[in-house]
Amino acid sequence: MRAASVSDFRELARRRLPRIFFEYIDGGSYAEETLRRNVADLEAIALRQRVMRDMTELDMGVEVFGQKLSMPVGLAPVGMSGMYAARGEVQAARAAQAAGIPFCLSTVGVCSLEEVTQGAQAPWFQLYMLKDRGFMRELLGRAKDLGSPVLVFTVDLPVPGARYRDVRSGFTGGTALQAALTQAWDGVTHPSWTWDLFTRGKPHTLGTVASAVQGSRRVTDFLSWISRNFDRSVTWKDLDWVRETWDGPIVVKGVLDAEDARDAVKAGAQGLVVSNHGGRQLDGVRSSISALPRIVDAVGDDLEVLMDGGVRSGLDVLKALSLGAKAVLLGRAWAYALGAGGEAQVTRMLNIIRSELAVAMILTGCRSARAAGRELLDGIDVPSVANRARS
Ligand SMILES: Cc1cc2nc3c(=O)[nH]c(=O)nc-3n(C[C@H](O)[C@H](O)[C@H](O)COP(=O)(O)O)c2cc1C
Repeated sequence: MRAASVSDFRELARRRLPRIFFEYIDGGSYAEETLRRNVADLEAIALRQRVMRDMTELDMGVEVFGQKLSMPVGLAPVGMSGMYAARGEVQAARAAQAAGIPFCLSTVGVCSLEEVTQGAQAPWFQLYMLKDRGFMRELLGRAKDLGSPVLVFTVDLPVPGARYRDVRSGFTGGTALQAALTQAWDGVTHPSWTWDLFTRGKPHTLGTVASAVQGSRRVTDFLSWISRNFDRSVTWKDLDWVRETWDGPIVVKGVLDAEDARDAVKAGAQGLVVSNHGGRQLDGVRSSISALPRIVDAVGDDLEVLMDGGVRSGLDVLKALSLGAKAVLLGRAWAYALGAGGEAQVTRMLNIIRSELAVAMILTGCRSARAAGRELLDGIDVPSVANRARS
């Protein structure tokens, strides 16, 4: 099948990836209510069609944190991407660079900061607050020395939410023997993935944090180390501590509440990502798109507001811009494409998003992504979005 849409990349990834990794990407937490809302609330927003407006000139570029983007899109941090395709983070970073958009490397990437920086331009770096502050300081120093332009500080994971699918697939929760058997079976039944990952994809460790996790060989060992290290004592004051080592832009990722957004401004953040971690943390919270307008109203003049969650097309990108996001981050969209076939498929997915965004801009009469606003919307059937968007 030749993929025509993000849902096609999802299907290709489902076929190619071992079940444990497909379910890890695809799933959300608990009953996956928020995961569904993220997608459904975007779908429920109607764009306003405009015609006969000479749309020859189209400017899709935006500038975020002093960086020019060829379109208002970036690749969100997605953990363990090097298990979806060989050295997956490097492949995705290259695709992003070729597309003129940023790639954000997860703390729990298979490829280290150093490896990604050798293979492509220095990525944005995502960091969790870890109990081991000495190690955090070392990570921040490494990111700075390598020239990472933006620090994405993820704040919605002081503790991991329960992901039922990971237990059912055998990815988490079992014994080492059960995990080994599941992996062996997955390997045999997914030969193209196995060939890719075992001939050119090793080592299967979490590169950036490898030095802190001595003696572990399985990716799941690293994940349990990081789970034990999430720091639930974190407060806005810790941003001052981060600032001592990091003097570039700090983008707080995982804000859904306007009061938290105001606190992020007071704490000196340069940006925030309206996000519920792709429906992977507190299930039952509102969708990102429904949280966006009130946060833009509260702090949109004080810092740069990005959003992620449920974006599956260029049309979704325009809807998010219309409600005030300066740019959106794609999570599963690129993880599916990478799992479907590496860099070439991520490039293809980004081309699809770009052309869908262009069509949406032309048919709504929007000449510049920077100028997109609520006038591009015709109707919003999601009460929580509509109330704020009208005010
Ligand atoms: C498989 C997977 C792994 C993720 N890993 C991380 C991570 O390591 N750090 C982080 O801040 N967010 C992580 N996220 C959340 C994404 O950065 C992003 O917020 C989310 O995927 C957006 O929703 P979407 O997938 O619907 O686009 C992950 C998401 C997925 C799907």
